[in-house]
Amino acid sequence: MTGTNIVLIGFMGSGKTSVGRLVSKRLGFQFIDLDAVIVDRVGMEISSIFAAAGEDQFRNLETDALESMMHLNRCVFATGGGAVLRERNRVLLKQLGFVVLLRADEGVIFERVSRNSKRPLLQTPNPKETISRLIAARNHLYEETAEFVVDSTALSHAEVAERIVQAARNAFGWQHAA
Ligand code: S3P
Repeated sequence: MTGTNIVLIGFMGSGKTSVGRLVSKRLGFQFIDLDAVIVDRVGMEISSIFAAAGEDQFRNLETDALESMMHLNRCVFATGGGAVLRERNRVLLKQLGFVVLLRADEGVIFERVSRNSKRPLLQTPNPKETISRLIAARNHLYEETAEFVVDSTALSHAEVAERIVQAARNAFGWQHAA
């Protein structure tokens, strides 16, 4: 870690955006959602980018977005669930700051992501099976990238945020601060 930032990684529906906002408020950091940065820059929704240009092109935009954040400090970043797929991104994520993995049981993930149909990778005949397959393929990448893991299955967003704030204070050497 070189930046004084918190970087939230994890599967779709693990709570990165909601928890990220809470953590940023607690620490007085800026909150940045990397998917939102991409949407702003391209002027298209994520699903339209996938439909028009394909996943690979979206991944290029994701890497560009990450690269353009490397000079920032005192930010909380929420990343897209696939941000760990590229090795280059995993290196950038670790340089950017304290990387925290939010995990949750598959059933909880499925229930959370079923509430909206915005996620292009889950527009399949059997999203439950897709979720299981993607999680199985990605888990080792999430784990190798993260310095700290919180399981949000049985916790409120506020409780998850509190754990992250404490862990980040330790990681930044601020453990004696109020
Ligand atoms: C993706 C996750 C999404 C978004 C895109 C691809 C993925 O972000 O980046 O749909 O590959 O897991 P969220 O994790 O914020 O849903």
